[in-house]
Amino acid sequence: MADVDPQNLGERAERMLLALGAISAEPRRLNRQFLTPEHRRAADLVGTWMKAAGLDVSEDALGTVRGHWASAGLMAGRNTGKRLLIGSHIDTVIDAGLYDGNLGVVAGILAAEHFAKAGRRLPFALDVLAFGDEEGVRFPATLNSSRAVAGVFRPAALELKDANGVTLREAVTRFGKDPADIAGAAFSPEEVAGYIELHIEQGPVLENRNQPLGVVTAIAGQSYLSVELMGEAGHAGTVPMMMRRDALAGAAEIILQAELMARDTSGAVVATVGVVTISAPATNVIAGHVVLIVDIRSGSDPARLDFVERLKLEIRSVADRRHLGLQVTQTRNVATTPCDAAIQDGIAAAIRATGSEPLRLASGAGHDGTAMAQLGPIGMMFVRCRGGVSHNPAEYASPADMGLAVAALIRFIEGFKA
Ligand code: GLV
Ligand code: MN
Ligand code: MN
Repeated sequence: MADVDPQNLGERAERMLLALGAISAEPRRLNRQFLTPEHRRAADLVGTWMKAAGLDVSEDALGTVRGHWASAGLMAGRNTGKRLLIGSHIDTVIDAGLYDGNLGVVAGILAAEHFAKAGRRLPFALDVLAFGDEEGVRFPATLNSSRAVAGVFRPAALELKDANGVTLREAVTRFGKDPADIAGAAFSPEEVAGYIELHIEQGPVLENRNQPLGVVTAIAGQSYLSVELMGEAGHAGTVPMMMRRDALAGAAEIILQAELMARDTSGAVVATVGVVTISAPATNVIAGHVVLIVDIRSGSDPARLDFVERLKLEIRSVADRRHLGLQVTQTRNVATTPCDAAIQDGIAAAIRATGSEPLRLASGAGHDGTAMAQLGPIGMMFVRCRGGVSHNPAEYASPADMGLAVAALIRFIEGFKA
């Protein structure tokens, strides 16, 4: 790896992340959602970088930017006809950090550039992918971009609406694309040798263990329960406490119950309520109608499914006790995605080659790899982030760690057997 300079790669990664981080819907915080003008600008910047890196650039109907480095010529007899896909996402949560997703895209470009700039063809092609819909902030669904690339996009998703009533179909059209072309975004499983994603850990394990890089063993499965509580709106000053049917008080009890139950699993399951929607909220009105979403995750599918069933019973009992109408809908049920054993070993060897010890750990966060696993074997490399903080503007990974990560990614590509 004599021709790889991790310090320089880390500094370049940081500069690119700062440039991407300036592209936001808001002046004072990072907010870049799927198929928005900000997504357009970020995709354009990524495309410019890919071109400068020597890659062939294209974009699919959901705005995923692709940078292609062709494999060794057929005549050379080394071409496997396969591709190694390297990706992550450029959409963000609201008030996001600079690194989540964006680092993986930047790292993919820098790694591919290493080969392209040297004119170094590999026995397989490289495709760097910048997805735009990992966070699921705009529409009530996630991973539509990677699902399209994996050939498992659900056309029914086109009817999903954002908070302004704009459907995904309309958003695609406004982005200048044709929804009819989404099917054309798919790679075929026969041509894909694997998918690798580099991502900040978004948790504290690597930092606690003093290691810059880790190998992901699996991406946790997820369930979402959408809980609708129907009480009775009323006057906050006149309705006696014992006569209320307060949907928000019921929601509060359910939120605490979910937290308590998750704590009782000793780390096997995590449960979060990050969205509570009160219909017609006002300080002087007893909430008559509330919808909350419980996000439940675990590396163990049986533990997650058992938790969902037990939580549903608790929710029912809170609603009954409070005389609230109840509708519970499971809006997501995604199994745990294992990372491929050979890719894990390849990542571990690459990390060792950069001089650090590869720690194996599971990902509690969701990633595009979950969709890409429908296409072929996947793997992920984690990069230490300060305090384990993510989905927060304080998110930080050092240039030194990012440089090592890109160097390890280059090493992984060199050792990859398609
Ligand atoms: C995405 O960041 C998720 O894990 O929900
Ligand atoms: Mn991410
Ligand atoms: Mn995220």
